[in-house]
Amino acid sequence: MTAHVSVRGDVAVLVPAAGMGVRLGPGGPKALRLLGGEPLLVHAVRRLALAPSVGCIVVAAPADAVSFVAELLEPVAPVTVVPGGATRQASVAAALAAVPDGFDIVLVHDAARALTPPELVESVAAAVRGGHGAVIPVLPVVDTIKQVSDSGSVVATVDRSSLRAVQTPQGFRREVLEKAHSAAIDEHTDDAGMAERIGEPVHTVPGSEAALKITRPFDLAVASLLL
Ligand code: CTP
Ligand code: MG
Repeated sequence: MTAHVSVRGDVAVLVPAAGMGVRLGPGGPKALRLLGGEPLLVHAVRRLALAPSVGCIVVAAPADAVSFVAELLEPVAPVTVVPGGATRQASVAAALAAVPDGFDIVLVHDAARALTPPELVESVAAAVRGGHGAVIPVLPVVDTIKQVSDSGSVVATVDRSSLRAVQTPQGFRREVLEKAHSAAIDEHTDDAGMAERIGEPVHTVPGSEAALKITRPFDLAVASLLL
């Protein structure tokens, strides 16, 4: 697969990749762990660069691996690499600050969702271009969901029909993401949560099973079967 970052693409993508991958177990930063012989980050960036809308990619790397990551991605796609922060939110903010003028649509995409298809990137970008200030890909929840007390007893069975599991890339009009980040005082696990906090309506589009987040060793095994 050869990646081409489109010079006409109107979308900048921020790739937080500075996490330590604690839940994946020992073996270094998660974005640099191998899947089919290549780092997760390489898989993720290659697929982003194949999306025709994408004109700019900014990666937030572990602070001690910025030049290593820049060299790693050099043959994959033109990218800007910045040092990430102590939290995902800080890493996203660092990448956002490096987006050049002229990109009015910004997507945020976890390096850990290494196999996300370019088509999902396009559908999120298209929804932002179509007028939504904030867009997230979602999947229906398939398991029965129960609320459980600290002692382990079931408190209630939750109606799952209105629940959705949320993926990345999440897409924003640039000013919405900037405003959400500058207004954020507490930690959020996703960027759309910060947009909700400032009152921005968040639109959903269908997600993709292939955009699974690689969190635990089991997920890495699933991803290597998908590859
Ligand atoms: N991330 C980041 N900067 C951080 C923490 C996380 O850029 N300080 C990135 C990760 O590299 C990943 C994405 O945010 O691409 C989603 O985070 P997660 O899946 O939790 O990855 P890790 O934080 O690396 O994993 P863990 O929580 O198990 O340590
Ligand atoms: Mg984490």
